[in-house]
This record gives sequence, structure tokens and C-alpha cells, in this order.
Amino acid sequence: MSFTYADYTASADYLKSRLDGFVPRVAMVLGSGLGYLAEQVENPISVPFFAIPHFRRSTAPGHAGRLVFGTMEGQKVVIMQGRFHHYEGYDFADVTFPIRVMRLLGAELLVVTNAAGCVNRDWQAGNLMLIEDHIKLALDSPLCGPNLPEFGPRFPDSSYNYSAQLRGLARRCAGELGLTLREGVYLYMSGPQYETPAEIRAARILGADAVGMSTVPEVIIARHCGMEVLGITLLTNMAAGILDQPLTEEEVLEAAEAGKEGFSALLRACLRNLDE
Ligand code: HPA
Repeated sequence: MSFTYADYTASADYLKSRLDGFVPRVAMVLGSGLGYLAEQVENPISVPFFAIPHFRRSTAPGHAGRLVFGTMEGQKVVIMQGRFHHYEGYDFADVTFPIRVMRLLGAELLVVTNAAGCVNRDWQAGNLMLIEDHIKLALDSPLCGPNLPEFGPRFPDSSYNYSAQLRGLARRCAGELGLTLREGVYLYMSGPQYETPAEIRAARILGADAVGMSTVPEVIIARHCGMEVLGITLLTNMAAGILDQPLTEEEVLEAAEAGKEGFSALLRACLRNLDE
């Protein structure tokens, strides 16, 4: 299923009717365990996904399912508290629908976060990773289907998906906070099964440092419509086959919980220093 431009504007118009002139500059997508950051927004206006035309419901554990508008660290933000994944049965048009809507509402920057498995053997679970680039081999592009030229070109460039300037900012902020911040390549896998050890060996040969089930569709759509992107990953576990033990959802959620303080400190510092 694909949406028309009018579907996106209908959704944006509904939200505008609830925003009283508020124009967000930064859109943030909060991954597993980070949702609580949306509770810290000042003067929040919250709109549940189910109330917004064409939005789906978020079914993944640890994803609340609402948009929160307001101020954080002096920036006007719109936060997606929860996101949609292809593995929930949603197609990429559904998964990425909110990105274009947030763009129509005025957002110029996308800060996208996630939990992922660590493919790089030299790093540790619990580390944060700045996404430097991504690899997407699984499934179609979210841009498949009729192009909507109001958003961007048929064949968008993908050379500079993750803003060098924003990465520099994140590096400086991590340094000031004394946080370890790795930098590497995120490989998209569709899930929901975790990868096999052979897939992880293949991922390493392909040049991946992290593997996860989100983020890349949203980034492709954000770049198509001209947003600058900052992507940060919490490496919640060593990827399959690295340690001699199975992967569990509990382990991932526990690690996301344990890492959330540093993760949110870094995000807040990036917002605070955005204009420096
Ligand atoms: N693989 C895919 N997605 C994930 C993982 C993983 O090991 N950990 C957290 N999200």
C-alpha cells in the first residue's frame, strides 16, 4: 500500500489543529528503553498514534505509541515515543509515514535512536555507537512505488546520510560527558528473529559493526525529503554467535534499561549544543 501526498498533508493538518502554532525543529525517534525521554519534554502536547489519520498502532515491547511535542534543552522537538517496524507486519509506507508528517510540520533534523546487536568483536555490549553509514540488503526500499516529488527526487543520493556536522557534535558531547562513543556501520535486518551466527559472520565481512531491525527505513525517507540525520545506537548485546549463549528479548530490554542514562544524557547534550 502506498500513500498519496494528500494523505500526509491530512495527517499534518490534523496535528497542526492541535498544536496552536507550535513548529518543531527536531524530530526524534526513540528506540527500545528510551521512551521515558519523552516524559521529560517541557510544555508537552501528546497525541496518541491511534488518533492521527493514517498512523498505525505501535505493538513492539517498550514502545508507547504517541507523538510528544514540546521543548527539550531549549529546542522545539517532536518525539516519536515508539516506532513502527516492518516485523510488526507493517509495510515501509506505514513504518515511515510519521517521518514525512513530522517534516511537513517543520522538522529539519531527525535524531534517530535504536538498540542493536554488536557485530564488532572489539567493542562491548553497553557501548553507544554513532551511525556513520548503513547497509540495507533486506527487502525493498521504502521509496519503492510512485515517487512523490513534493518530498524529493526519484533517485536520491545516499552518500551523506548521516550528517558529518551532527556526528562531530555528538562526538564532542560524548567527550565532555566522558562517554565511550563508537562509530560504525549499522546493518538493517528485517527480523523479528535475531540473526544466525552465520548471518553475523556475513555481516562482519560486509563491513557492519552493528545489526538491528529499525532506523534505516526512516533514514532513507528522511533524507529523501531533505532532513539532516543523526543516528545513535545502543549496542545492547553481542550479536549472535559471538558469545556461546542464545539471545533473548529480556537481555536486550534489560541492557537498554541499563544504558538509558548515558544515552539520554548524550541526546540532551546534542540538543543543548545544537547551535554551537
Ligand atoms: N539483532 C537485531 N536487532 C537487535 C539486536 C540484535 O542482536 N539487539 C537489539 N536489537
